[in-house]
Amino acid sequence: MAASTRQDEMGQDESGKGEAIPDTGLACIVLAAGKGTRMKSRLPKVMHPLAGIPMIGHVLASLSALGAVRSAVVVGPGMQALANSCAPTPVRIQEERNGTAGAVLAAADIIENFSGDVLVVYGDTPLVRPETLRAMVHSRRETGAAVVVLGMRPVDPGAYGRLILDEAGGLQRIVEAADASAAERAVEICNAGLMVLDGSVALELLRAIRPDNAKAELYLTDAVAVARERGMDCRVVEAPEDEVLGINSRRELAVAEAILQRRLRDNAMDAGVTMTDPSTVYLAADTRFGIDVTIGPGAVFGPGVTVEDDVVINAYCHLENCTVRTGATVGPFARLRPGADVGPSAHVGNFVELKNARLGAGAKANHLSYLGDADIGAGTNIGAGTITCNYDGVSKSRTSLGDGVFVGSNTAFVAPLSVGDGAVIGAGSVITADVPANGLASARAGQKVTPDGGRRYWDKRRGGKNAK
Ligand code: UD1
Ligand code: CA
Repeated sequence: MAASTRQDEMGQDESGKGEAIPDTGLACIVLAAGKGTRMKSRLPKVMHPLAGIPMIGHVLASLSALGAVRSAVVVGPGMQALANSCAPTPVRIQEERNGTAGAVLAAADIIENFSGDVLVVYGDTPLVRPETLRAMVHSRRETGAAVVVLGMRPVDPGAYGRLILDEAGGLQRIVEAADASAAERAVEICNAGLMVLDGSVALELLRAIRPDNAKAELYLTDAVAVARERGMDCRVVEAPEDEVLGINSRRELAVAEAILQRRLRDNAMDAGVTMTDPSTVYLAADTRFGIDVTIGPGAVFGPGVTVEDDVVINAYCHLENCTVRTGATVGPFARLRPGADVGPSAHVGNFVELKNARLGAGAKANHLSYLGDADIGAGTNIGAGTITCNYDGVSKSRTSLGDGVFVGSNTAFVAPLSVGDGAVIGAGSVITADVPANGLASARAGQKVTPDGGRRYWDKRRGGKNAK
């Protein structure tokens, strides 16, 4: 079977490894094979980042809270990077993009002989909360409906599918905007794109869907009409619009980012973080804060940042993949790049950049410095304008400073080298060799003073009486 070869190539197929997979419980299928043409991008739509991680990562994170017994992400051919970022969730390939029902059928093996609940979510709907997904599953189990659809009432229903209800409030069918009559388009309740199907009939319903519509595609949404034709019940669970926004364009991506940022900031504040101007702070989905952290305006957190208790991040700092330990102060205008580790009560001041550098407890680098590939001991003071010269044009080398070192201003450390505990480095030095503990090193040209030289200089420049 061609499809299974492709799964092997993608290296993500985890099924069939001999472990018994339960045939009840919850199965999740994430649809992410669409080309996302409306994004006008070379990157698959669901790989576009939101709050620092790919859109698909948010969907997978919500699903992981549900404890599915089986799951798969349906991707398109040639989407290797996407397949990799889904790991350990297995992927299935939808060879031909023939619609959302076709996509679910590309993962038919996941729900074959399965009598639990089948949750289908779209990879381009990343803001949905696990509670909402649970409510859908709960509703299906309670009502015994064949299909439960997540509905919403957007301010602008636009291109969303419309939910056509019967008098009893049951769901009759879903009509895509492109196929809808004027009366149907006026319906306010829309399809958010998430569905729970009764596993014991899911494949039967999906296989009965026909491409009789404007796009000549197999619409997953038609599972509702097919179920109703067979006398089965279909239901709607509603969610707020800002949780089920579908992202099809970069504008919608920006709207989703704003919603998510507000959510992340609110969560951080609820958990004990003070933000002087929250709307200017940008967080990543995985930013971790202790309590009594204070964040000034304009701080940006990329992925992988941990900030412990009692830390102050002053205005306009940029942090990614780094750790700031208890009681430390950072910024304003500091940049912590990957591998920065700011020790307890350490200070990183304005226009200081750390990359792959550890600053020990109570150490200070308060002004205008670049510290890359460095280990800096506890209580060490880094003078203004200190640079670790970590790159020689070919390879990177480390600078290691002990505890209690005093580094005078405008010092360059030409790595690799090490400086022992308690050493003193004279200002303006270019340090090229190791300095022992308690040593003093100064590496700069000696000072030359010419008495009266200043006056003679001015006379010459200004044409005074001593000019020659
Ligand atoms: C879909 C729904 C619409 C709903 C809206 C909610 C259908 C037919 N329509 O429309 O009722 O209001 O979502 O956001 O389902 N995909 C595949 N393979 C395909 C086609 C799509 O995997 O062949 C995936 C896409 O990657 C995407 C998802 O399915 O993640 C939805 O596809 P998209 O084309 O965005 O559907 P909409 O037009 O937004
Ligand atoms: Ca969509």
